Amino acid sequence: MISPLPGDPAGQPPEIDHVARWRTLVRAREEQGRRLDPLHGRPDPWGGDRAARFRHLVSESGPDALFALIRPFLRPDLTVLDVGAGVGRHVIPIAPLVRKVIAVEPSTAMRRELQDVVHASGLANVDVIAAAWPDVDVTAADLVICSHVVYVVAEIEPFLRRLAAVCRGRCYVTCRWTQREAPILPLFEEVWGEPRCPEPTFADLLGVADQLGLRGQVTTIPFGAGRGFESFEAAVAAIKADLLNPPGAAADARIREYLAGHLRLREGRWVLEAPPMFAGVLWWETGR
Ligand SMILES: C[S@@+](CC[C@H](N)C(=O)[O-])C[C@H]1O[C@@H](n2cnc3c(N)ncnc32)[C@H](O)[C@@H]1O
Repeated sequence: MISPLPGDPAGQPPEIDHVARWRTLVRAREEQGRRLDPLHGRPDPWGGDRAARFRHLVSESGPDALFALIRPFLRPDLTVLDVGAGVGRHVIPIAPLVRKVIAVEPSTAMRRELQDVVHASGLANVDVIAAAWPDVDVTAADLVICSHVVYVVAEIEPFLRRLAAVCRGRCYVTCRWTQREAPILPLFEEVWGEPRCPEPTFADLLGVADQLGLRGQVTTIPFGAGRGFESFEAAVAAIKADLLNPPGAAADARIREYLAGHLRLREGRWVLEAPPMFAGVLWWETGR
């Protein structure tokens, strides 16, 4: 027999304030970044060559599982809203199949890549909006997606409520089940002498959604399939950024030594040894 959890007299578990927990996770991670990362506080977190590197990664990552999920519901009369569109991983395959795509993207560097790729694809039905959700004036959309954005959003309640409010059809929110940096967490702790503060996961998102009364469906999709680096040096640069740019020659040497032991050359790409990762998609239908 399973004993009741400690909580109220009826044996109910104590209530968790998932919204507050989410805020604590995001703020703790932000604080750690501010304290450790010498490059923290850049005006655009995707500045430098980060957005261009992300575009390269997206262009090489193959068929997208979220796109596959929404593909059956795309029609030429629909408007799609992509919140945190990045370099257009979803905008580009969606736009030819619908009336219009509204792409909300606050990062100047990401928008530059997005506009470039939209132009190169000859798409004339994509509106790019320079703003951060939820403070964006947009009309309702038939299908709303928000893929891998929520990790940095401290105030998750207004963010999700507004996604739900502007959606008159299907809404999809994607977030990893696991930490993106999982393969290098031991190295992070070794280099800095403290563990990396975790980002919220899909389990946290489910708790928040439940608390807000947003009860939808859950689909699990692969994350990061095909991820790899074009060279050993590209891997060093990316992993160094993920480690919050530890200064000094000793840290540099340790990163190189670690990667020499954990990177494998597979079909011309440098791939970090790691168990497969997954993301969850929380989706619901509004029916308005
Ligand atoms: C990891 S990228 C994901 C991009 C794209 N959705 C994808 O799946 O490839 C996260 C994006 O969310 C954007 N972002 C961060 N905070 C945001 C906010 N409050 N509103 C809209 N976008 C945001 C970032 O600028 C970045 O482009």
